[in-house]
Amino acid sequence: MQKTIFITGSGSGFGYDTAVALARRGHKVIATTHTTDSANELNSFAKKNNLNIESFKLDVTVPEDRQKILKHDIDVLLNNAGTGQSGSLAEIPLDKIRHDFEVNVFGSIALAQLALQKMMPRDSGTVIFVSSLAGRVPMPFLSSYSMTKFALSGGIDAMRREIKKITKNVHVALIEPGAYHTGFNQKNIAKKYTWMDEKSYFWKIKDDLKIEEEKYFKMMELKSTKSMVTQIVKACEASRPKLRYTAPWWQAVGVQVMRIFGK
Ligand SMILES: NC(=O)c1ccc[n+]([C@@H]2O[C@H](COP(=O)([O-])OP(=O)(O)OC[C@H]3O[C@@H](n4cnc5c(N)ncnc54)[C@H](OP(=O)(O)O)[C@@H]3O)[C@@H](O)[C@H]2O)c1
Repeated sequence: MQKTIFITGSGSGFGYDTAVALARRGHKVIATTHTTDSANELNSFAKKNNLNIESFKLDVTVPEDRQKILKHDIDVLLNNAGTGQSGSLAEIPLDKIRHDFEVNVFGSIALAQLALQKMMPRDSGTVIFVSSLAGRVPMPFLSSYSMTKFALSGGIDAMRREIKKITKNVHVALIEPGAYHTGFNQKNIAKKYTWMDEKSYFWKIKDDLKIEEEKYFKMMELKSTKSMVTQIVKACEASRPKLRYTAPWWQAVGVQVMRIFGK
């Protein structure tokens, strides 16, 4: 069945790849982006490739931008837009943590509430949140980012159970990706070096830390987003989506084992 699927953060990475995959499967995709330039690029790609994708700028932190969702009758909202600060909670400026929460948590919940204004009276629809395996086991020096994803993975589980009390036809689900090479992790780990200086508690270890983090992501990241996009497409198309969709399976199992052993 063809669905209308509304995505945030579609200018790159999972958002872009999922928008294209869903359109190729015959869905109508409203693929919103952080900037107008990204929307223009996506619109010309869609036109050239005859894909049913409409793109425009929607910054999830801007209330007037979020209102744009009300102009569309959508079956699925995929809250994918995300950002991440790095650095230790021992010293990271609080405004950076607040920004992570504004984008990853408050922006996506506010958009979900708008989408639900139509889904609840109609008694159909699905709202999906892209969290992370870093929202199940925290990552040091990505603690601000991890906190936002813990907030999502915990909160959305509860929201799903709240909605289930009154309807079986409006669904809430989580996507929890492991590490994928979209450029997102590299962008995030580099951010702390823009504000850390000689006064940082971690100044002495910063070079080792950089090498360690780059090595970690090089080892863990999957080059292709295909395994994750397949799961996201499944969640969007499901008539009764599961709570969690994760990939790659071996990172999801690893995280589960770490949680059993008290991580
Ligand atoms: N890659 C991974 O290893 C990984 C793992 C777990 C979870 N995730 C999650 O997957 C989602 C997508 O990430 P990705 O890996 O595909 O990285 P990505 O390519 O950087 O995608 C994130 C997208 O969100 C957009 N964005 C940032 N702030 C925004 C805002 N205020 N309003 C609207 N859009 C905004 C970005 O646009 P600009 O680039 O123009 O700012 C970018 O297009 C994120 O929620 C991320 O936390 C990724």
